[in-house]
Amino acid sequence: MSGKQIGLPWVEKYRPNKLDDLISHTEIISTIKKFIENEQLPHLLFYGPPGTGKTSTILAVAKELYGAKNLKKMVLELNASDARGIDVVRNEILNFASSRSLHCKGFKVIILDECDAMTRDAQAALRRVMEKFTKNVRFCLICNYLGKLIPAIQSRCTRFRFAPLSVEQMMPRINHVVEEEGIDIDQNGMDLLLKMAEGDMRRSLNILQASHLAFNKVTDDIVYKVTGRPRRNDIRRMMEWLLNQDIKYCMDSIEELMLENGIALNDVLTDLYEEICEADLPDIPKAEILSALADIEYRLNIGATEKIQLAVIVAAFSKVRNTVPRMEE
Ligand SMILES: Nc1ncnc2c1ncn2[C@@H]1O[C@H](COP(=O)(O)OP(=O)(O)O)[C@@H](O)[C@H]1O
Ligand SMILES: [Mg+2]
Repeated sequence: MSGKQIGLPWVEKYRPNKLDDLISHTEIISTIKKFIENEQLPHLLFYGPPGTGKTSTILAVAKELYGAKNLKKMVLELNASDARGIDVVRNEILNFASSRSLHCKGFKVIILDECDAMTRDAQAALRRVMEKFTKNVRFCLICNYLGKLIPAIQSRCTRFRFAPLSVEQMMPRINHVVEEEGIDIDQNGMDLLLKMAEGDMRRSLNILQASHLAFNKVTDDIVYKVTGRPRRNDIRRMMEWLLNQDIKYCMDSIEELMLENGIALNDVLTDLYEEICEADLPDIPKAEILSALADIEYRLNIGATEKIQLAVIVAAFSKVRNTVPRMEE
């Protein structure tokens, strides 16, 4: 196929094809290259936050090992959408691992993405398959959290941690996409995009594409709109209400602001936290508010109602308000 691939998500369109195209992780990549050169690829375990190149790295390794033509025959890729029980290990994985390919020599590769979602039974079964078929199969396990993998599996793999990408690492890649796609982006838009991505390249590309598609240009205002994150100014206004106004006023105004801009309370919490840490408040009320925010975050994450948790934020401020000097406009 040639020509422009219209409609492809940019995360796929700009997925690095070769190991050399990957940004950052230079040590991981040079180590894996050595494994390949010496024909001693061990079972691999990639872990770390999303959008840092774990899947791209193993796909690039597979392409270098087999070439695009044999990829389908030699590589089995299972990801989150597949069932995660013991049946998958007994059927699909075992079948693929135990059959030999007539056309290609050497080992095959099985990629198990998001393997931290596998049940413990499935992991135990997987461990036995790994042992039995080491001769003709290499596994590459990918997960966000190491802790959810049984130690017996961890110890059979060579582990690599994929760290979040820094702004400096992401910038050239984003600039490349900006040029290729002819995107109209200003400096503030670029700065905010990189900040919002939090080291996740997938997120940065998705925000970029959504902003470009919806608004034909990328500014900080548009990035806020697309991500639904509160603007710094809005957070400052909330802080001012929280420190100076009564409970009803705070509840009504904050709710209205959130509704207007499609903001989630979780995001308000994250940004309020930053604002409070930096604010010029005495230590004791500051500590009390921070500790209340921690409880609220926990409750939100286990499914508490936004409205009531917003009330708790307002209440936390209201409790300490008298001990805090009035904030000037
Ligand atoms: N290290 C990297 N170098 C270049 N692009 C990257 C890198 N990490 C992620 N990306 C981009 O983000 C997208 C998602 O990467 P992926 O490898 O699927 O991340 P993960 O598996 O760690 O969640 C890729 O398609 C690619 O466009
Ligand atoms: Mg992945």
